[in-house]
Amino acid sequence: MRTQIAIIGAGPAGLLLSHLLHLEGIESVVLEARSRTDIESTIRAGVLEQGTMDILTQAGVGERMRSEGALHHGIELAFDGARHRIDLSELTGKAITVYPQHEVIKDLVAARLAAKGSVLFEVADVELHDTQTLRPRVSYRHGGEAYTLEADFIIGCDGYHGVARPAMPAQELRKNFQRIYPFGWFGILVESAPSSEELIYAQHDRGYALVSTRTPTVQRLYFQCDPSDHVDNWSDDRIWAELHARLENHDGWKLKEGHIFQKNIIGMRSFVSTPMQAGRLFLAGDAAHIVPPTGAKGLNLAVSDVQLLARGLEQFYRQGSEERLNGYSDAALKRIWRAEYFSWTMTRLLHTFADATPFEREMQRAELANIVNSRAMATALAENYVGAF
Ligand code: APR
Ligand code: PHB
Repeated sequence: MRTQIAIIGAGPAGLLLSHLLHLEGIESVVLEARSRTDIESTIRAGVLEQGTMDILTQAGVGERMRSEGALHHGIELAFDGARHRIDLSELTGKAITVYPQHEVIKDLVAARLAAKGSVLFEVADVELHDTQTLRPRVSYRHGGEAYTLEADFIIGCDGYHGVARPAMPAQELRKNFQRIYPFGWFGILVESAPSSEELIYAQHDRGYALVSTRTPTVQRLYFQCDPSDHVDNWSDDRIWAELHARLENHDGWKLKEGHIFQKNIIGMRSFVSTPMQAGRLFLAGDAAHIVPPTGAKGLNLAVSDVQLLARGLEQFYRQGSEERLNGYSDAALKRIWRAEYFSWTMTRLLHTFADATPFEREMQRAELANIVNSRAMATALAENYVGAF
């Protein structure tokens, strides 16, 4: 088999890249290890920046996002028993949409299949070959048969645990940057109406908590936990008691309870692997970088990476120039490092670090107070949050 672009992974990065290339008349094959049902039901993040909304809309896959997603014009920061609104739209002229990642996946899969795009699910044993030549290849198994796919380029969109990053050639320039945080997020999905019209990011001595939403009848709540803890240690009653304690306030607002139908614990890390290109192998999305979820940048970074790549590949096929492709890694990393900075800042600002000194805890509270009292500081947070630059 032969195609122009072999894409490993049908997450948001791989599927959107395949769709953007299709719109430019460039052919691709997407190889995905999991089943369609699995990728369409895995619960991940849910916040889309304005730029992400614009790209999905321009690519013709934004219809359900606009009708079913919820446009949010602000977020709230809660600390010391009070809630403070950051008016994203007033400060930046932009907004965010809360629309679950697996719904974005459904829309992209539907668009690829409607265009007769080639997306192979449940492939196994994916291996990359000759990536530093002009004829790279991918070998894999599908339905018990062994295949080889030849391509002009291979794009690794296979997430943090994929095979593409380990296949990048070891070279002097290759650098990995990492920070692992000493806490995780305990996430629950709850059947209830939203407790708040906007997301609430809460700082509390007992640990951080986040009130987010999925749909008018399903809510997403998180609280900081020990990353080695286990969901079985947390009864529903214990979860509610912890959330109420961290979200306590003096203005009468109360978290709505409901039936908890999913519990999970996620670890937190910041990670960047550079460069994102070697020969004919490129990385995009979680394959190249991870942000802690505070600030919800992961999906948005995946989208901006593949937009840059699609432009580079378009230039290559239209004009025969590799200029944009050669600049891809540097261009993508500029935005990635800013998002890494913001996610790290939000994480540091809102979580309780067990080893923080009393002085450091006061500095954290002073920083929060500065943000809600200074328009300049609130604007900086809002610009980063909506992805304004
Ligand atoms: N072969 C084929 N597919 C693979 C392989 C492999 N060896 N390894 C992983 N995959 C698939 C995974 O099953 C997954 O569907 O690659 C896909 C990677 O998707 P994501 O992890 O969602 O990564 P990405 O598309 O970069 O999207 C980043 O996802 O983790 C969230 O917060 C993150 O929102 C961000 C987004
Ligand atoms: C989510 O709804 O999953 C979510 C929202 C905001 C974040 C992180 C996760 O910062």
